[in-house]
Amino acid sequence: MSAAAPARLAVLISGRGSNLQAFIDAIAGGTLNAQISVVISNNPGAAGLCRAATAGIPTRCIDHRDFASREAFDRALAAELANWDVQLVILAGFMRILTPAFVQAFSGRLVNVHPSLLPKYPGLNTHQRALDAGDTEAGVTVHFVTLELDGGPPIIQSRVPILPGDTAHTLADRVIAREHIIYPLAAQWFISGRLQLTDNGARLDGEALPATGFDYLDGGC
Ligand code: GRF
Repeated sequence: MSAAAPARLAVLISGRGSNLQAFIDAIAGGTLNAQISVVISNNPGAAGLCRAATAGIPTRCIDHRDFASREAFDRALAAELANWDVQLVILAGFMRILTPAFVQAFSGRLVNVHPSLLPKYPGLNTHQRALDAGDTEAGVTVHFVTLELDGGPPIIQSRVPILPGDTAHTLADRVIAREHIIYPLAAQWFISGRLQLTDNGARLDGEALPATGFDYLDGGC
């Protein structure tokens, strides 16, 4: 039996691109059976564009400031994606709220990583909000994207402790190390046919996932 062909991915970024790098590394390391067909940024200055270029991945910049409306930007984004025939669209620090038309067009094959234990702290400044609330743990969630901002069905979460003396920066460093593990893992589940979005939420191996997703405890699956 021949091995499955690598899945085609698009990665959308706005900035640093450390999650993009985690995908590049997972593919190189053989744990993610994929190729990144294109990296698209809405920000011409995104450092992640250099990471992609260094890895030999085609890049496109679609600057949202060139468009009169969110809808027009999203139409251009969808048109670019249509050129690449991708199976999964990975939002990796993509700092744009997507329109319903875009989200619906890519429903079931659009995923995001959010640096909190959703449903806690959708939106921005998640680490500071967890510290301000006196939480004892924080974490990261990979989820399917639906119309509700940061509200789509969770796929996988990883928790980290909040330690005495933590700042938003030290906590972010602890969380992002987990992002880099669980995001490519979730993508591999999808690519291998183990993970789907259904009308009743995310399913892994035919079973409904818990409301907060698979609980990643330093171990694989
Ligand atoms: C990550 O913290 C991710 O959870 C959030 O944006 C950040 C992107 O970081 N959505 P990077 O650009 O992948 O380094």
